[in-house]
Amino acid sequence: MDLLTAAALILVTCLSCLTVLSTWRQMHRKSQMPPGPTPLPFIGNLLQVNTSDMYHSLMKIREKYGPVYTIHLGPRRVVVLCGYDAVKEALVDQAEEFGGRGELAVFNWLFRGYGVFLSNGERAKQLRRFSITTLRNFGVGKRSFEEQILEETHFLLESLRATKSEPFDPTFVLSRSVSNIISSITFGNRFEYEDHEFLFLLRAILETFEFASTSWGQLYDMFSGIMQHLPGPQDKTFKKLLGLKEFIMKKVKANKETLDPNNPRDFIDCFLVKMQQEEENPNSEFFLENLIMTTINVFFGGTETVSTTLRYGILLLLKYPEIEEKIHKEIEHVIGLNRIPNMDDRPLMPYTDAVIHEIQRFSDLVPTGVVRCVTRDTQFWGYTIPKGTEVFPVLGSVLRDPKHFARPDVFDPQHFLDDNGQFRKNKAFIPFSVGKRYCFGEHLARMELFLILTSILQNVRFKSPIPPETINISPMLVGFAALPHFYEMCAIPL
Ligand code: HEM
Ligand SMILES: *[C@@H]1O[C@H](CO)[C@@H](O)[C@H](O)[C@H]1NC(C)=O
Repeated sequence: MDLLTAAALILVTCLSCLTVLSTWRQMHRKSQMPPGPTPLPFIGNLLQVNTSDMYHSLMKIREKYGPVYTIHLGPRRVVVLCGYDAVKEALVDQAEEFGGRGELAVFNWLFRGYGVFLSNGERAKQLRRFSITTLRNFGVGKRSFEEQILEETHFLLESLRATKSEPFDPTFVLSRSVSNIISSITFGNRFEYEDHEFLFLLRAILETFEFASTSWGQLYDMFSGIMQHLPGPQDKTFKKLLGLKEFIMKKVKANKETLDPNNPRDFIDCFLVKMQQEEENPNSEFFLENLIMTTINVFFGGTETVSTTLRYGILLLLKYPEIEEKIHKEIEHVIGLNRIPNMDDRPLMPYTDAVIHEIQRFSDLVPTGVVRCVTRDTQFWGYTIPKGTEVFPVLGSVLRDPKHFARPDVFDPQHFLDDNGQFRKNKAFIPFSVGKRYCFGEHLARMELFLILTSILQNVRFKSPIPPETINISPMLVGFAALPHFYEMCAIPL
């Protein structure tokens, strides 16, 4: 062996060692991520999940890898958090780190990172603060706002009476009323129930929610990079979403033309005023695109969530008439039949309160939570999660955490009652999520659920046109949202 060959051999050996070392290092760094199923190139762990039921797919993988694991949904790498401990320790105890918003392609197709819901950093902070302040300025959380909800409930009761005890599908009856409550803030007025434009908007919102919960919607969330360039069932939904955007743009234009900065009429006006105030600030987040998208976020968020919860709730009461009966008794006892309910009644009505909590727990509106991301390299449970990694706080796994609920899969108001029939709080009740980005519509939503449900049950009794035993209370779709099957009901005057 001459010297040159020996030198070459040594060099090759050294290089190989270095390569092995660096690969090992890389693998070691990867193993600092929570464990999870081995991904295939491009499709990731697609073969291990059922896109028609992501929630249960994620729960199955948890059995093997524990409550904190990593999954690859197509090209997305996501850390999944299951159960109360993991979700709380991340979202609350490390609120700053887990306070980012991940990518939600089905919605981001429209929002493109603008608006309060799908933004990050300074933008999210500014828009969130503005939205919360503005809702409060319009009375949300105050006494006066109860009246606004009750006024709308009055119209809802009228349309229930108009059904004359005949079977009807409650979907739009409920969403019209719920939507009008948030409309009074975003647009300064309510819509007539038969207004065609209004019904178009409500349909667009429901369909978007539905699409996001179908198998296609889940696939779109994984492969939006390609699917956004291909035709598919998303086109129909997206076209309707554009209609929603056009509607808001029209409203903004009209508001602009009649704006009186000293007398803002609605959310849009307040935003326009803020835009004027920050005109000189080149870094201002208060510009047209954020105005449009934030208004859609609040209008959308304030519509479908509460109305789907009510629709699911009424279905559960149709299934369990004995539970409904106990609410009627409590209403009779605490409120009577001659005066309208108010929020002071709630602490005196532990059973009704427990049923409403149980409806939210059982119906589990957003089963896998709204995707978050970590805002910096994050240490969690002994793992290192790199900045920007997406996170699913699986809310359904908290609402059904067997450590906190005796019979997680059963609809049972006892989950929120103590032995004396008094209301019992449960810290694992987090349908609105927790931490930096928790739902700031929570207070409004809970007021609406209580006032609308008690007002309805003070006036009518629900009756199912089919035998309660045959009612299917499992969800029709489980994806971004969990949605109940459509059904018919009768409202019998008391
Ligand atoms: C039953 C009713 C509702 C449920 C179950 C619900 C649930 C949620 C959940 C789980 C999130 C994600 C929070 C997170 O990432 O931690 C959220 C965010 C949000 N919700 Fe709600 N929500 C409801 C009602 C409302 C209402 C009435 C409004 C109207 C004001 C609203 C507006 C929003 C907005 C704007 C966000 C985005 C917040 C952010 O990204 O910072 N929601 N909601
Ligand atoms: C996927 O989930 C849906 C809805 O739960 C179910 O009907 C279907 O059979 C499941 N598919 C597979 C392959 O497990």
